[in-house]
Amino acid sequence: MSPIKRLKRVGVLTGGGDAPGLNAVIRAVVKSCWNSGFECIGIEDSFDGLLEPDRSRVLTPRDVTGILRLGGTILGTLNTGDPFDSLVPTSDGPKPYSDRVVDMYHKMGFDGLIVIGGDGTLAIAHQFCDRGIPLVGVPKTIDNDIVGTTNCFGFDTAVAFATDAIDRLHTTAEAHRRIMVVEVMGRHAGWIALYAGVAGGADAILIPEIPFDVALVAERLRDRDRWGARFSIVVVAEGAYPRGGSLSLIEEASPGHVARLGGVGAQVCEALARVTGKETRSVVLGHLQRGGAPTSFDRVLATRFGGKAVELIKRGEVGTMVAFDPPDIVSRRLSDVVGRIKTVPMDSDLLLTAKALGVSFGD
Ligand code: F6P
Repeated sequence: MSPIKRLKRVGVLTGGGDAPGLNAVIRAVVKSCWNSGFECIGIEDSFDGLLEPDRSRVLTPRDVTGILRLGGTILGTLNTGDPFDSLVPTSDGPKPYSDRVVDMYHKMGFDGLIVIGGDGTLAIAHQFCDRGIPLVGVPKTIDNDIVGTTNCFGFDTAVAFATDAIDRLHTTAEAHRRIMVVEVMGRHAGWIALYAGVAGGADAILIPEIPFDVALVAERLRDRDRWGARFSIVVVAEGAYPRGGSLSLIEEASPGHVARLGGVGAQVCEALARVTGKETRSVVLGHLQRGGAPTSFDRVLATRFGGKAVELIKRGEVGTMVAFDPPDIVSRRLSDVVGRIKTVPMDSDLLLTAKALGVSFGD
């Protein structure tokens, strides 16, 4: 008697901070699995969902209908904790987190895993890969700082939101002849600030890659006053810091928690008020940049990433990450991309163009 062939079982999880487009990837993974004859299992709350069997569920096209345009993630996500450095309570008693995940992965009969996450989650995924879990990573982050891919989904949506915010600040800045300072996210990379700053017509853009001098920014803003533009817009990346100074933190890093950046916008605002004598105001866009519906660009990218991830699982090309290398979606070795971040290079065409237009980077 020939054995009954079991369906291949593919797990999908989301880890790290959420980004618009996560649901679009999940939908693409579920539909591609369905059409390939695979069973797709949605794992809840990142790798935590593998600690107990009741923290995952079968996903069919019916479960993902209508989620393409939704922000957030139907699976939940986590950006705290280190699975390689902790003991967890389980229904079988306390266990080392990572051993439990590997054990449950096999017990639950998975044939492959799709891990959607940022640099932290992909680094964890890489370690699980070394522990024998065949997986494919999908790069996600509004920060756009993952090595090996020109774009991560979520970035375009965050930039579109920040650009809209800058547009709105322009009119009030002009009406009151003020300097408006906008702090945007991005951690240690200045991509959101650079793209939204250029798209919104900012007069100064401060990014982590270029430590700034407030006196030089003020000088450029005074020039604007001289030729008649008596208001200015300054975009500050949360990871930007003054020359000879340090990062502004809301909370220090602690075991299992990365440092929370923030506050530099208010500092720049206060310093510009002091140096220029002008009225200044600051605003922090914060998590608004991570909410809302993904742009059409991010929906398409996320959908292509999800489809490609299933294709790679099918072909057995695991230990990889899907990536955008325009116009193609390609695969990269996870070992080539983890442990590093992609920052704005000093020869970036956009950076040089902005400088040529007279935008101050505080240098
Ligand atoms: O990595 C995405 C990101 O939004 C960063 O830009 C920001 O510094 C961080 O996450 C905020 O994390 P949390 O949601 O934990 O406050």
